[in-house]
Amino acid sequence: MQWYQIRGYRDADSSAVRMLYSTGFREHAGNVYLLALKQAWTRAALCGIFFLIYLFFASFMGSIIGVGGFLLVVWVAVQYFFEQGIQLGLSEDLLDIRKSYMENDCPSCFWVAEVKGSIVGTVGILPCVEEPGAWELKRISVKKEFRGRGLAQALCKRALNFVAKYQGPVERLVLFTSVIQSDAQKLYDRIGFVKEKEFVWPSLPARLIDLKVFKYAHMIGGHANVK
Ligand SMILES: CC(C)(COP(=O)(O)OP(=O)(O)OC[C@H]1O[C@@H](n2cnc3c(N)ncnc32)[C@H](O)[C@@H]1OP(=O)(O)O)[C@@H](O)C(=O)NCCC(=O)NCCS
Repeated sequence: MQWYQIRGYRDADSSAVRMLYSTGFREHAGNVYLLALKQAWTRAALCGIFFLIYLFFASFMGSIIGVGGFLLVVWVAVQYFFEQGIQLGLSEDLLDIRKSYMENDCPSCFWVAEVKGSIVGTVGILPCVEEPGAWELKRISVKKEFRGRGLAQALCKRALNFVAKYQGPVERLVLFTSVIQSDAQKLYDRIGFVKEKEFVWPSLPARLIDLKVFKYAHMIGGHANVK
């Protein structure tokens, strides 16, 4: 018997789904911070702060404190923009999941994975705004304790089977992920998605840290390597 159950979304799942999304999103903050520190301007700023403080105050300790302060400011900025990103998701399709995914004119749906009455995974599909005529896989997330056991694959399989039924007018399922979501990239490669576009997210904070976004696509009716 399967240790999880995948079923359609119900209104009572709303807060658990929103919580899972927020937690899954937030856990990438550390990677974004590291990405920020890798940028040439960050390193230049760190060296500049160190040497300027040393030059003006002749204090090694002062330089260390200055560098620490700058690192703290970058960390706070990353946290701030992450919270903004989370709030954006929560105020868009996740604000009213039933309305966004299940009362749509086009075929779209939202599923949850349940274990002993708790929501431990989610996935949804919607018509893609960026590519009219295609579907978009969204909000794939699995609770940390339940990862590495094929649950995300099973959720994707459910979405792929759903869209396969509508083969014909819509032929592509696409999704967007980013350079910091390495687990997700491995998952998409494994189930037959192909990376077809790479771009820097068009916002100032994303440009500052060179946050690359990848667009993946899956031909509906093509083979998903999911059992
Ligand atoms: C990306 C994410 C959804 C993957 O969830 P997951 O349930 O761990 O994914 P899976 O278990 O299906 O696959 C992960 C690994 O477990 C392996 N695995 C272990 N047991 C398995 C089983 N019984 N069946 C299938 N795969 C199994 C898979 O082969 C895969 O191996 P890999 O490390 O070589 O890639 C999860 O890491 C997550 O929620 N991250 C945070 C949110 C996020 O970043 N979402 C992506 C948005 S674009």
